[in-house]
Parts: sequence; structure tokens; C-alpha cells
Amino acid sequence: MNIIIQSAEAIERMRIAGRLAAAVLEMIAPYVVPGVTTEALDQRCHHYMVQQQQAQSACLGYQGFPKAVCISVNEVVCHGIPSERRLKAGDIVNIDVTVIKDGFHGDTSKMFFVGPPSILAQRLCRITQQSLYRAIELVRPQLPLGDIGRIIQPLVEVEGFTVVREYCGHGIGQQFHEAPQVLHYDAEDGGVLLQPGMIFTIEPMVNAGKAAIKLMKDGWTVKTKDHSLSAQYEHTVLVTRDGCEILTWRPEEPVPRVLTHA
Ligand code: MF3
Ligand code: CO
Ligand code: CO
Repeated sequence: MNIIIQSAEAIERMRIAGRLAAAVLEMIAPYVVPGVTTEALDQRCHHYMVQQQQAQSACLGYQGFPKAVCISVNEVVCHGIPSERRLKAGDIVNIDVTVIKDGFHGDTSKMFFVGPPSILAQRLCRITQQSLYRAIELVRPQLPLGDIGRIIQPLVEVEGFTVVREYCGHGIGQQFHEAPQVLHYDAEDGGVLLQPGMIFTIEPMVNAGKAAIKLMKDGWTVKTKDHSLSAQYEHTVLVTRDGCEILTWRPEEPVPRVLTHA
């Protein structure tokens, strides 16, 4: 497993790609309302990437994925395919955006509430996002890679929720998915220690019920096996000399874009 240490030039391009991916999530927020189809949201995201950002979707055509973004509603864990499904009040929706700009990838997702969420949905999303933030706050040189899952799993489970095992975060750069795999639960990490210049995603998927998932017949859509709600948040993170930078940071977030531990 060879983890790329990105050059200063590559890092600058990754900052740009990350910022663009984050901007798509900010742009789409006001349109995630009752009655809209996930297809319409997909088209708006795609148009924005291509026309406003002069960027491409990394998802469109990726291993045959048919749309520009992934939109995962309620019990859909990840890789939901935008469709004529109409959102309704009470739905919770993950939009996962990956852009390619100048050959480099930015990958990020967040949850949106369609109308007022249930108390459970709100708590599930809050805990999932907090688990991502707590992991990001650890990221610095010499951190064992496995410490990421080692902090996320107990935070999730103490709330009675579960971490999905089958999908993980990933190195990212000129490739969409590269080494290392970033697990969101406590497992052997092969002794990998983080180094400045590594760039990877952290993207915990958290279920309100059991951790088991099932893949739908379309070959993409992943649902919770017990039909419980699922939430996910994702950031692309750069390891720096004394901490990390959240390359897909949005101004609305309660954590700083640059974290230092001098
Ligand atoms: N963006 C997803 C990730 O975080 C991958 C989506 S692949 C697709 O890794 F083909 F479904 F778009
Ligand atoms: Co990702
Ligand atoms: Co993603």
C-alpha cells in the first residue's frame, strides 16, 4: 500500500478542487425542499460544476454510475442514484459531490433536512457529523491511521447507533479512490502513520439501527438491511506539518478550516 505524499503544486490544486466541491453543497442547499426530485437536484449540481466551475463530476460514468452526484434519502446509506423520486417533509438527504478540476479530485458530502426532521433524525445526523469532526481534530503527522476509526466507533455506539463496515474513506488526488483505506471502526491499520502531504477522505456512514446493509438490484443503491435511517458526512483532509486542513470546508461549519496542534 503506497500512500502518495502530494507535492506543493498538487496540494494547491487539491485546495481548489476541494473548495469547488464544497461550493456545490452550499449552492444546492436552498433547493433541497419538499416536492423537488432528486434528478432535478442532480441536474442543478451538474450544471453548476460544468458551467460555473469549469469542472467535471467524478461520479458520472465512474464504473458506470449514471448521474453527477449521489443522493441518498432516509434508509439509503450511500450511492443513491438521482431519480424522479420527490422529496417530502421529514426526509433526510445526503448529497455526495466529487468534482474533478485540473486533474484533481475534491470529495465531500453532508446531510440536508427536508422540512423539520424527527428528533431521531436530528440526533443521528448530529452524532455522525460530530464523529467526523472529532476524527479530523486528531489528524496530524505520526497519528496512527487506525486512530480515526478508533475514535469514531465508540462515539457512535454510545448513542446506540452503528458504523457501516463495508465502505470506507480513501486516499484521493489525481485518482478518485487510492490508498489508504480509512476505516470508520476500530480495526488493524497495518501500522500506517500519517505524514504531511497525505490527502484522504473521512466519511462515516452511521445507521440508527443495525450496521448491516444490502445492495439494491440497480447495483449501486445501498440501504440499511433493517430499513433504519442512515446518515453520512464526508470531508477531504490534508495532513500538514502540525495538524490538518479541511480542503472541503464550508464557512457554515463550527470547526476551523485549518487545525494546528503546535
Ligand atoms: N463520492 C463517493 C465517495 O465518497 C463515491 C461515489 S462513487 C459513485 O467515495 F460512482 F457512486 F459516484
Ligand atoms: Co469519498
Ligand atoms: Co464522496
